Amino acid sequence: MQQAFRCSQSVTREREDVNFQFTEAPIGGAAIDATGSPLPEETLQICRQSDAVLLAAIGGFKWDQLPPEQRPERGLLGLRAGLGTFANLRPAVVLPHLADASSLKREVVEGVDIMIVRELVGGIYFGQPRGFTTNQQGDRVGFNTMIYSEPEVERIAHVAFQLAQKRQGRLCSVEKSNVLEVSMLWKEVVTRVGEQYPDVELTHMYVDNAAMQIIRNPKSFDTIVTGNIFGDILSDAASMLTGSLGMLPSASTSDDGPGIFEPVHGSAPDIAGQDIANPLAMVLSAAMMCRYGLNLPKVAEHLERAVSAALDAGYRTADLHTPGMKKVGCSGMGEVLTRCMVNDLRQS
Ligand code: NAD
Ligand code: IPM
Ligand code: MN
Repeated sequence: MQQAFRCSQSVTREREDVNFQFTEAPIGGAAIDATGSPLPEETLQICRQSDAVLLAAIGGFKWDQLPPEQRPERGLLGLRAGLGTFANLRPAVVLPHLADASSLKREVVEGVDIMIVRELVGGIYFGQPRGFTTNQQGDRVGFNTMIYSEPEVERIAHVAFQLAQKRQGRLCSVEKSNVLEVSMLWKEVVTRVGEQYPDVELTHMYVDNAAMQIIRNPKSFDTIVTGNIFGDILSDAASMLTGSLGMLPSASTSDDGPGIFEPVHGSAPDIAGQDIANPLAMVLSAAMMCRYGLNLPKVAEHLERAVSAALDAGYRTADLHTPGMKKVGCSGMGEVLTRCMVNDLRQS
């Protein structure tokens, strides 16, 4: 898979007529309210029978006090596990228009193009045993298990090496092997898999250093491969290179069956109902869905060009706003994108 989103000026505009058939199914809070379960069996069945799953964010204050297994987040984890989408691609690409929107200096972020490959159905998110108990002193304790098997590391390593081959040929494996046995195994297996990819330059980095280097010198990274929790944290950090968490799309794929395409961000409950959320991560996730999930690359380019044109015309949601730009809300950005798509079709 090539990089997910490049702002291209010189593409051929070819029309591709497609009809999408949408089926909506509840997950997370909406599903809890409707059925009592964060992932109703019917939702999982509908997803399994679809060509791709476009997923809106789950979670919110209303459901935060529920027991762990009933929370909206468990619905999302159940869907990922149920579809076996072990390879989560999270591209952090700094668009030329947005180099000044980042909280970091333009010269640090300009040209950044990082692909984070996050293992998505293993690690501490799924390891057993987990739960709450009481220790010998009578104190309550919470515990989780961070666990990876060799085959789990091997399959994500292959995905990452093959992606790196199509990119700049540099792969950085991020773990914590100075402390954790699970990371020692991770490093050993990634190194072994790397022998099959002599054209890819493999480096290793501890996650604490990686978090710092992503901020200090993001252009030193090409492709990153890492475990579930480290990938979760590093992708949120990397999002700020691009200007906003509201810019980061993702694609989660399995060996076969439908992929899940969703923004990296959550439901942003702190700004709910204000019509100020940035919709671009969702639109770019739909583009990733077209490219990787539905084999409709021209439709993906069409969506990406609309995003590029909207930014080029100076439209910004509040999270990306800089002086001199035209501030729009979430629905306003939607209208701008629609106009840009119509213009784009006229040129095809
Ligand atoms: P969040 O990503 O929802 O929000 C973090 C911060 O970024 C907030 O200040 C929010 O306003 C801002 N933000 C996020 N998306 C934005 C957008 N599109 N435009 C503008 N600003 C945006 O993370 P959180 O606040 O830690 O979690 C809120 C809820 O979302 C929780 O219930 C969490 O479990 C859930 N969550 C879901 C997903 C998912 O569905 N994939 C991902 C992350 C968090
Ligand atoms: C993400 C989210 C999820 C995760 C949560 C909501 C389960 O933070 O997609 O990044 O941690 O994977
Ligand atoms: Mn996250």
